[in-house]
Amino acid sequence: MSPSHLSAAPHSENGSVAAASLPSAAAQLVERLGTGRATIGVVGLGYVGLPLAVECADQGFETLGIDLDADRVGQLNAGENYLDDLEDETVRRLVDDDRLKGTTDFDRAADVDVFFVCVPTPVTDTNEPDTSYIQSAAESIAESLRPGQLIVLRSTTYPSTTEEVVQPILAEAAEAQGLELGEDYFLAHSPERIDPGNEEYTTANTPVVVGGATETGTQVAVRALEAIVNEVHAVANPKVAEMEKLLENIFRSVNIALVNELAQLCERIGDVSMWEVVQAAATKPFGYMPFYPGPGLGGHCIPIDPHYLSWLARKHDFETSFITLSARINEQMPFYVVESVVEEIARRPVALPEAEVLVLGVAFKRNVDDTRHAPAATIIRLLREKGIGAVRYHDPHVEAFQAPGRDGGAAVDVPPVDLTPEVLRRHDAAVIVTDHDAFDPHFIAEHARSIVDTRNALEAVTDPGLREKITLLGSS
Ligand SMILES: NC(=O)c1ccc[n+]([C@@H]2O[C@H](COP(=O)([O-])OP(=O)(O)OC[C@H]3O[C@@H](n4cnc5c(N)ncnc54)[C@H](O)[C@@H]3O)[C@@H](O)[C@H]2O)c1
Repeated sequence: MSPSHLSAAPHSENGSVAAASLPSAAAQLVERLGTGRATIGVVGLGYVGLPLAVECADQGFETLGIDLDADRVGQLNAGENYLDDLEDETVRRLVDDDRLKGTTDFDRAADVDVFFVCVPTPVTDTNEPDTSYIQSAAESIAESLRPGQLIVLRSTTYPSTTEEVVQPILAEAAEAQGLELGEDYFLAHSPERIDPGNEEYTTANTPVVVGGATETGTQVAVRALEAIVNEVHAVANPKVAEMEKLLENIFRSVNIALVNELAQLCERIGDVSMWEVVQAAATKPFGYMPFYPGPGLGGHCIPIDPHYLSWLARKHDFETSFITLSARINEQMPFYVVESVVEEIARRPVALPEAEVLVLGVAFKRNVDDTRHAPAATIIRLLREKGIGAVRYHDPHVEAFQAPGRDGGAAVDVPPVDLTPEVLRRHDAAVIVTDHDAFDPHFIAEHARSIVDTRNALEAVTDPGLREKITLLGSS
């Protein structure tokens, strides 16, 4: 995998071909990749781009990280890691060794052989794809496009973005120089699969998919990715790669919606816990994969990406019913959780304006610091709209947190608190929104007055006296 293990020697597997049979610009690029002399440019140094840049540099490539955010670039150039998943020591070593550098401009873009574009793909207020970051990155790359460059889009997006948004921008610049796609420069889509917080699967050992805009584009992109990732699967074109990523995310969204709906049914049926049901079903060694209920979806991908496909489907007069239905069920979960919290408080001798609620975990998933689209924000907004006197939070990964104001008002700070016996006792209810490993189930169960557990984080607590204090989502 390291450049020293690669060579420009003939290689016929998985879309790679003998360098000799490639157009000369492609053959030279493959040779530069094989000998470790290629310069890699990673555009966008966020949750996706920084780990990728670190992996490229760690494999021996000179790596240039380009990000418009001067704070991120400043931190990187000071050798400071700003992501939980990366080792501080690795980032410092690569920066000190001059293998990894950050920059806020594209001045050195002509030095780059392979660009990996990892910029955000949000949705607009009306849930339409916002490809402006991709366009802007492509325009910056196009300004100094030269023969022998490969551009790989890694952002998640709707099928046809690579060929209909990125390709025309590059083609305009190429035309002025007489460069031809697939002969002189190359374009591909390879969706990112990183799973922040996952210690087992990282950039290097998570297989990736790639589809080039031309056959040669696929071949050189396979070689570029093989230099940093163990397993590369080539597909027919960028659209297949774009679509498969959306399938992965929609698959999760649909299955989580299914268990969220059934969790609500279990509460009505009584004497049946959805958690036990899923664990039991998971004993089947084939044809089933466990998904668990929760307080709603968060992060930059699963709540957002399906909208990209719905939008494209509408353009083709097609309705993606699974996406719409699962989004509706998942987006309703924070409301369901808040009802449980209010019911909990109603059992106590306290009126809502005097009630105090502690939210445990505001990151969108366990053991990460990412709060983008976290269900905790909606839960806190709804608790405030219900008139709860005070809502505070504790999250060992998140120092500061804001939630939207009441009735659409501006975002307001949510006060953070330490997790002490006094703090737990002071609040009328604690609601576990994120099941960080740092949370001690027995400590929480012992000191809290009542707990709404949306993640089965307190499963280890079996003492009947303590269990009485716990309301578990999907169980009654
Ligand atoms: N976060 C994840 O777990 C994850 C997983 C798989 C795929 N993705 C996808 O990867 C893409 C990036 O996600 P992320 O979480 O890393 O986003 P992020 O917001 O953490 O990072 C994106 C970075 O791009 C920078 N940027 C924006 N426009 C730029 C430009 N024109 N030039 C240079 N830099 C620019 C931003 O300043 C930011 O630092 C998205 O499409 C996302 O859907 C994310």
